[in-house]
Amino acid sequence: MKILSGIQPSGQLHIGNYFGMMQTMIGHMESAELYVFIVDLHALTSVHERDRLAAGTIEAAADFLALGLDPDKCIFWVQSDVPEVCELTWVLSTLTPMGLLERCHSYKDKVAKGIAASHGLFSYPVLMAADILLYQADQVPVGKDQKQHLEVARDLAIKFNSHYGETFVVPEPAISATTAIVPGLDGQKMSKSYGNTIPIFLAGKELKKRVMAIATDATPVEAPKNPDTCTLYQLLSLFAAPPRLVEIRRLYVEGGAAYGYLKLELLDLLHQRFAVAQKKREEFLADPAMVRAILQRGAEKAREKASRTLDLVRDRVGLRY
Ligand code: ADP
Ligand code: TRP
Repeated sequence: MKILSGIQPSGQLHIGNYFGMMQTMIGHMESAELYVFIVDLHALTSVHERDRLAAGTIEAAADFLALGLDPDKCIFWVQSDVPEVCELTWVLSTLTPMGLLERCHSYKDKVAKGIAASHGLFSYPVLMAADILLYQADQVPVGKDQKQHLEVARDLAIKFNSHYGETFVVPEPAISATTAIVPGLDGQKMSKSYGNTIPIFLAGKELKKRVMAIATDATPVEAPKNPDTCTLYQLLSLFAAPPRLVEIRRLYVEGGAAYGYLKLELLDLLHQRFAVAQKKREEFLADPAMVRAILQRGAEKAREKASRTLDLVRDRVGLRY
């Protein structure tokens, strides 16, 4: 089973990314042929400051390594180090109906949030399809927001296969029911572009500020509350041990849940979960040459796989004469 997923190096890693994708990927390390990569070509659709993109790439790599991704147990690389993906993007784009891309919500959402409506942003899902099909991935763990992009990848694989003959594996999305959409401080989907995130690796005071800013209602402590509509409860349920979560739920339902106190409990749980990784991250960031070397080794392995698929594609479409 080949499992693949990527993350954009476009901002600080947050707990939505962690639960939506990274934790799942790290969990597959022992059992699958795992492909993990940093999609800098995708980030180029929204990041146009040279240093921010380059530093973001090293940081995203350090994040993954610090959280426990072992580069000897997977293929871990930076997207642009395997240029084959651009050629496959072009081939796929010649089979991509405009209507398929026009229907993608992500493009419209990003433009509504002020990202320039470039051709790259519009064709973003074709590059993502090429990412997935190039490595013949069976499964792609992502958050729910990426489901439509996965459908584009599936459509293109099916279309190519039926026109040119069996070439690509048709990938399946893997979306966990419990962490499909992690809510942000305001209760909307947690996202870098909404400014409502809890970054995993934030320094003490800053982290406290974010946690204390989680939106809660004005119900008095003693009054019963609905845990299932409460962002704070949803976030606690990702971190608290099951017996403690049962107690917290009882406090909500029967009365007695004090939001301020529960926020401090969440803060403590965040520290417990990420303190070790935070230290490791600092060590990786202090040695960027080592991080680059890890990524280069990964790129060599990835490139070998990619060129095998691309050779087949060139042959299928007639780019061999
Ligand atoms: P962002 O929306 O913050 O820009 P990305 O688009 O870089 O995040 O997402 C990287 C990965 O994390 C994707 O697989 C995405 O589906 C997942 N993800 C992002 N936000 C969330 C969230 N709030 N809940 C669950 N998964 C998420
Ligand atoms: N579009 C994805 C996101 O914003 C990132 C991504 C690019 C990706 N290529 C991919 C995810 C391939 C999974 C597989 O989160």
